[in-house]
Amino acid sequence: MKTIAVLVGSLRSGSFNLKLAKALEKLAEGRLKFVYPDLGSVPHYNDDLWSDLPASVTALKSAIDESDAVLFVTPEYNRTYSPLLANAIAWASRPYGKSSFMHKPGAVVGTSPGAIGTAAGQVDLRGLLPVLGVIPMGQPEVYLQMKPDLIDDASNVTVPDTEAFLKRWVDAFVAFVDRVAL
Ligand SMILES: Cc1cc2nc3c(=O)[nH]c(=O)nc-3n(C[C@H](O)[C@H](O)[C@H](O)COP(=O)(O)O)c2cc1C
Repeated sequence: MKTIAVLVGSLRSGSFNLKLAKALEKLAEGRLKFVYPDLGSVPHYNDDLWSDLPASVTALKSAIDESDAVLFVTPEYNRTYSPLLANAIAWASRPYGKSSFMHKPGAVVGTSPGAIGTAAGQVDLRGLLPVLGVIPMGQPEVYLQMKPDLIDDASNVTVPDTEAFLKRWVDAFVAFVDRVAL
């Protein structure tokens, strides 16, 4: 079974994006293993720290290095992806020439209560993926407008059409990772 490093761009305890990640994990049960590096303990990027690297950064890079693919689950902050993700991405992309993302298949999804469902934030993030060395899955896309109780506490998607939509995305991602992962 392929392992996916899932980078969720929110630390909020009730994060809709974490809910989305967990729902996708459930829909991929038995086909993909999701691991969630702890982005909250990673310090602000600072070149000086490479001489005595914080364990949180080592753990982040190892989790990505050891995964077959990466999944970015991003909120939209001011029409771009979240600063939490930007910081984690900066660390994992370094040192120069040793990006943990290099040659990894990857995809971007996201959710927000807003009508465009993180479309603007995702567009920004997708533009970054080739720079990182990620081989992006272009289609299908997930721009999900979060509604109350759309995803329940057991990570079930409660609206059948949305569940089917997300399941199609999972099927495509499983096939993409199988095809592209080294
Ligand atoms: C600084 C900030 C900027 C935001 N900008 C946007 C935005 O551009 N578009 C949008 O749809 N929602 C925006 N939101 C609302 C977030 O989508 C909302 O807080 C969402 O719940 C965050 O994701 P989470 O639930 O995973 O924490 C913004 C929220 C914050 C805190």
